Amino acid sequence: MPTKMVDSYGRKVTGLRIALTPRCNLKCIYCHHEGEVKPEKEISGEMVVSVVKAARDLGIRSLKFTGGEPLLRRDLADLIRQMPKDLNISLTTNGIFLAEQAKALSEAGLSRVNVSLDSLKPETYAAITGCKEGDLEMVLAGIDAAKENGLVPIKLNVVVLKKNEAEIPEMIEFCRRNGLILQLIELLDLQSLGVSGDIEGIEKSLQAQADRVSTREMHRRKKYYLDGAEVEVVRPMDNTEFCANCTRLRVTSDGKIKPCLLRSDNLIDIGTCDCERIKGLLREANERREPYFGAKDRLCPAAR
Ligand code: 5AD
Repeated sequence: MPTKMVDSYGRKVTGLRIALTPRCNLKCIYCHHEGEVKPEKEISGEMVVSVVKAARDLGIRSLKFTGGEPLLRRDLADLIRQMPKDLNISLTTNGIFLAEQAKALSEAGLSRVNVSLDSLKPETYAAITGCKEGDLEMVLAGIDAAKENGLVPIKLNVVVLKKNEAEIPEMIEFCRRNGLILQLIELLDLQSLGVSGDIEGIEKSLQAQADRVSTREMHRRKKYYLDGAEVEVVRPMDNTEFCANCTRLRVTSDGKIKPCLLRSDNLIDIGTCDCERIKGLLREANERREPYFGAKDRLCPAAR
């Protein structure tokens, strides 16, 4: 049995989220760049493999690759092929290059994908992402390819904005029809853009319509079931319950362990591909984990 990482607040670490590159082919108006300030270099494939092996030995069970846009990494399928086989591996992508890569990624061992798609209207999609209107078609083709290649369940990531909030009922219908899980994400408005939609109002209306509501262990996220559609709501802002149930560590695209999306003052530079040394660094990062929103009182050692 691998040793489990538990932090001094009693929170287990079971997931690792690795940004494979800071590069992206889109320029979404709200992007938080995974909380990275100024990435200096791109993490090597060898380091990714070593970090994942070390994390797996410490009890990590699920792995998420993000970016930037992870499909821009030419060695992506190769990396996935080298991952421990007992991990659940997922990917968050904007989907533009997914149609051409879904088969190879699935064959390499990818389990499933999250596709970021903030609007089903070409004009709105282009206004949010800065892409050409025709690119929406590529994302839709990417979703089809992911389905055909068994990269399921597919989640559709939608950041709730003023520009797309009126579309949410259509998005629910789109996901119901296509067997996708809709993930409605509260905007982390780090740049005070004031473009956030009314996620609270949307959640109230989901609550009123739902046949059933469940709560996921991770972040205590709520999931609403509405006549065959599944809608998950991700609301981290000022949410002490969200932080109290965080089970993640992150790795930045320039090879640093990041204990919290919202902090950049407690990173640990990996700087080695030696698994044993990386395990020590992961343990140190685990010690540095703190709920961003919520009580900072640590558990007394006897209570752990
Ligand atoms: N607020 C909330 N979610 C964000 N994402 C990126 N920037 C933000 C932000 N400012 C999420 C999007 C995308 C994923 C990669 O990160 O949901 O799907």
